[in-house]
Amino acid sequence: MTTKTSKPIEGSFQLFEGDFTNAGKASTELRNVLKGLAVADDAVRRAGVAAFEAEMNVIIHGVAGTLHYAVSDGELNITITDMGPGIKDINLAMQEGYSTAPAWVRELGWGAGMGLPNIQKNSDKFKIDTVVGEGTTLQITIFI
Ligand SMILES: Nc1ncnc2c1ncn2[C@@H]1O[C@H](COP(=O)(O)OP(=O)(O)OP(=O)(O)O)[C@@H](O)[C@H]1O
Ligand SMILES: [Mg+2]
Repeated sequence: MTTKTSKPIEGSFQLFEGDFTNAGKASTELRNVLKGLAVADDAVRRAGVAAFEAEMNVIIHGVAGTLHYAVSDGELNITITDMGPGIKDINLAMQEGYSTAPAWVRELGWGAGMGLPNIQKNSDKFKIDTVVGEGTTLQITIFI
């Protein structure tokens, strides 16, 4: 028999393109879960920033997707996956200031091209996989 020292805490949220009404809901709930687990303020802040930017990218660029988080063994793992359209040039997309957001999105205050660079900065581990026509998956790890 194996003995588990800690039960993983996990949850997931559905995300939909253009759903600005619920923008920030997933990352806010995740922050509250982490606070409830007495995670250090700095880790909560970094997780909140990374999750929020990833959540917004699905709502702005990604058709529909899911944010899943799991806390166990001193780390928080967040996976954000969407159903397209994928990213053509990942090196370009990772550059500060690069954005393909349309004018109406910029008018709402998004599209500065800072989301992906900020996710990377705030993560301890960060991986992005994308296939044009299929979708994008981000894996974010934050040590807590
Ligand atoms: N999930 C995604 N699906 C498809 N394309 C994406 C996705 N996430 C990012 N991109 C592409 O990468 C670009 C850069 O993303 P990034 O988050 O850095 O900036 P942004 O979303 O355009 O602006 P900001 O995040 O500052 O509001 C986007 O403009 C878009 O072209
Ligand atoms: Mg963005």
